[in-house]
Amino acid sequence: MKNAMCEMFGIEVPIFAFSHCRDVVVEVSKAGGFGVLGMARMSPERVREELRWIDAHIEGRPYGIDVLMPTTYQDFGGHKFDAEQLFPRRQLEFVRTMLDEAGVPPLPPDEAHAIETALVSQFNFTPQESAEMIEIAMEHPIKLIVNALGSPPPSLVERAHARGIKVAALAGAPKHALRHKQAGCDFVIAVGTEAGGHTGHVTSMVLWPRIVDAVAPLPVLGGGGVGRGRQMAAALALGCEGVWCGSVWLKTAQSEVTPEIKAKMFEAGSEDAVLTRSVTGKPCRTLRSRFTDAWDEPGAPETLPAPLQAILWWGQGRTRVERARVKDFLTYPVGQIVGDMTEETSVRQVVYEMMSELVEAKDRLNGVVG
Ligand SMILES: Cc1cc2nc3c(=O)[nH]c(=O)nc-3n(C[C@H](O)[C@H](O)[C@H](O)COP(=O)(O)O)c2cc1C
Repeated sequence: MKNAMCEMFGIEVPIFAFSHCRDVVVEVSKAGGFGVLGMARMSPERVREELRWIDAHIEGRPYGIDVLMPTTYQDFGGHKFDAEQLFPRRQLEFVRTMLDEAGVPPLPPDEAHAIETALVSQFNFTPQESAEMIEIAMEHPIKLIVNALGSPPPSLVERAHARGIKVAALAGAPKHALRHKQAGCDFVIAVGTEAGGHTGHVTSMVLWPRIVDAVAPLPVLGGGGVGRGRQMAAALALGCEGVWCGSVWLKTAQSEVTPEIKAKMFEAGSEDAVLTRSVTGKPCRTLRSRFTDAWDEPGAPETLPAPLQAILWWGQGRTRVERARVKDFLTYPVGQIVGDMTEETSVRQVVYEMMSELVEAKDRLNGVVG
């Protein structure tokens, strides 16, 4: 294919893959697309390790990173490592009682404490630490930095551009996209409500063309609900220069999800990808579970603000239910295309099928429009 995004990165197909899994990143880039590693709050050591591995396996193909650059710094101060003080009693008891009553065995106290300690330090991420992480990443041949939340700071855009690295950011509304353009982004990623993970309320069908028009002539990638070639054709028809996909890689053999969660995704319908605050404190589309349902029931407490709710779920719930493999409680961020995910495949096969269906869609349209 030939268009602005293919030229920008010297890639064969404008399929951009968001993944927390380095194997997916490498496989997508090797298949002719562009892999982007989600590095939210990774320690400097981890950044070095992951990027060294990618460099050793990616055969010189381009790749990028996705970072969460906090504009505000959450300091948990004296309550740092104590769940009893960190969380309000009502929410803490709600989670504990829910899992106790369901017969999910608790974690040994030392282990629960260690998990929470690690989590709190992860969320206690200062802007300096975030800058250090990006500095380390820039020592590797990355070609793109994507900012997950908000516009990238001017200093970052300058440093990246000085090294020939492109910068982009996610947008759920035209006004956010315009802010990214003013901040100096090389392109914008328009993410509709269908998406897995944090997302807004407007559908891709409505959002993509509005953002394309708002930031023209800046290129736009369409994200949220793209897992197959007809959806990619729709993105291109609506003015996007390529697609940004996250959920579809979860069904591949290379993905990071456990076999139990994968099996649950294969049984799920699109309506099981629910938008809930219960896993992070912000609207996040995730696989419906007894945990996500419980917060919607009458008498349930309010969810806590981010990042406390995430620490509550991960520290008090997630490891506990994953350890015991309690299917009803398992959840993971995923978008509405989960309804299309029915069996395991490979990253290469996803790219291949997306391209063949795209070509079929183009031929059908050619026949109709003539
Ligand atoms: C498991 C999962 C984790 C995600 N984590 C992040 C993240 O850390 N940073 C980010 O910018 N986007 C994250 N996203 C959202 C993706 O960047 C992307 O916008 C979304 O997956 C696109 O829609 P789709 O899921 O329908 O493909 C995540 C998505 C999934 C499915």
